[in-house]
Amino acid sequence: MSDAPRLNRRPEWAELGDHRAGPMLHASLRELFAADPGRAERYVVRAGDLRIDYSKHLITDETLALLLELAAATDVFGQRDAMFRGERVNITEDRAVLHTALRAPRDAVVEVDGENVVPAVHAVLDRMAAFAERVRSGEWTGHTGRRIRNVVNIGIGGSDLGPAMAYEALRAYTDRSLTVRFVSNVDGADLHEAVRDLDPAETLFVVASKTFTTIETITNATSARSWLLRGLGDGGAAPSGDAGSGAEKAVARHFVALSTNAEKVAGFGIDPDNMFEFWDWVGGRYSFDSAIGLSLMIAIGPDRFRELLDGFRTIDEHFRTAPPQANAPLLLGLLGVWYGDFFDAQSHAVLPYSHYLSRFTAYLQQLDMESNGKQVGRDGLPVEWQTGPVVWGTPGTNGQHAYYQLLHQGTKTVPADLIGFARPVAGMEPELAAQHDLLMANLFAQGQALAFGKTAEEVRAEGVPEEQVPHRTFHGNRPTTTVLAPELTPSVLGQLIALYEHKVFVQGAIWNIDSFDQWGVELGKVLAKRVEPALTDGADVPGLDPSTAALVAAYRALRDT
Ligand code: F6P
Repeated sequence: MSDAPRLNRRPEWAELGDHRAGPMLHASLRELFAADPGRAERYVVRAGDLRIDYSKHLITDETLALLLELAAATDVFGQRDAMFRGERVNITEDRAVLHTALRAPRDAVVEVDGENVVPAVHAVLDRMAAFAERVRSGEWTGHTGRRIRNVVNIGIGGSDLGPAMAYEALRAYTDRSLTVRFVSNVDGADLHEAVRDLDPAETLFVVASKTFTTIETITNATSARSWLLRGLGDGGAAPSGDAGSGAEKAVARHFVALSTNAEKVAGFGIDPDNMFEFWDWVGGRYSFDSAIGLSLMIAIGPDRFRELLDGFRTIDEHFRTAPPQANAPLLLGLLGVWYGDFFDAQSHAVLPYSHYLSRFTAYLQQLDMESNGKQVGRDGLPVEWQTGPVVWGTPGTNGQHAYYQLLHQGTKTVPADLIGFARPVAGMEPELAAQHDLLMANLFAQGQALAFGKTAEEVRAEGVPEEQVPHRTFHGNRPTTTVLAPELTPSVLGQLIALYEHKVFVQGAIWNIDSFDQWGVELGKVLAKRVEPALTDGADVPGLDPSTAALVAAYRALRDT
């Protein structure tokens, strides 16, 4: 246990508190900009292709200086270096945290327990590339000799959200002749809808599970295997002249696994030759650029996948080398601490102005909330400060016609990230591409309205009746970050994800929590296993609380009538 002072006993923490309660108590973005218009250019940080404007935040040079002092006091960069070096920074699971090694160049050296892991990373990437090319070219066929036209990824959490999000984000780069779907929910409806119009003879299942024990994934994979064998019918038998079990051979052509657990993969009946491996130093929610990216790689091709990894690496290097005042993940992390701990902001909205990023915030929810939704510090003591925010949001402009009302006039402070691109993705019809300026005009307008609002005087000057003035006044002062990139390419997507990965790291480092475990998901899993027999065969579940017992009884009665 470290004898470093607890976060809220540090003088830097107290100084931030005083700063908030003093000069920043009535801070107004209108006044801050009036006094210092130069902040529009000064509070911009560049990371790779990303231009990150944080000028519309309730901060001054003094705030930034105090936040940077807090980062220095909590040794964020020392903690960063320990992670990159492969130290076991995931203390409760005693594991190294090396998703950055997944995008390290071939000649890099990253050691875990004295062994350089980079050659193994590239060996798997090369195998993935060879396999992806075989599927894309039609050389890899199904059991009956037909070409694979459908890829169904079965996984959940980190084994689903990354590739599913990126598949949507990079649709413009995908092979449009392939149908790629993602199944995660144990609700049979998910698999049912995903395969109902597919031909089993042309379908490849990619079963993605780090542990290969996750009940949702194993249940869906088992059902998918039955669907395949049922659907192949006679085709499921061994092709003539071919010895061996037809079912085994069919599974070998239609199932591959992405996992760290070769034993369980073999136990499930997937040939270990069809397994693409990763390692326990890759956390599930950080695994997207490991073998877990295989479905995406099949969709966009190995070259585009490598561009994506290059994007991640660009931000890794930025995070590793940029000085504190120009370090984008550090600054964004500090801003999150500023609002969460000193403004009592409970949530953080991520609002991409790109339809292709429709799953981006859902991906970030796991990244951020599973990492930093913690109540105990690395010292084992309850934290006495706020940790991770509730992360939410959907693409603009749709959100504008739904929940932005609360962002503009509600009683809560919701810091938001507005993400936009200078150009639409290539290949769109000119008339649709021309809509891009309107989309971006909305992004800029929202940032402006949230920051500067509309005063009662301005409302009155428009001739609004006095009784309506309060309703039509916008107080502004709602903080936003604007992230602008040239275009949504694979590299830019990688840069965006790495930016958030490292921002989450920075916050966990300051809050002194373990951002890499997820014990909070365990209890529900255990209880579901315990309750299930009560649903299926009416078994008595010892110790079931009265409320849950009544619900189970009501469910059974409804179901069985
Ligand atoms: O339940 C949470 C979790 O462990 C996530 O951290 C993980 O991404 C997900 O389940 C899936 O786990 P696996 O890849 O082992 O199936």
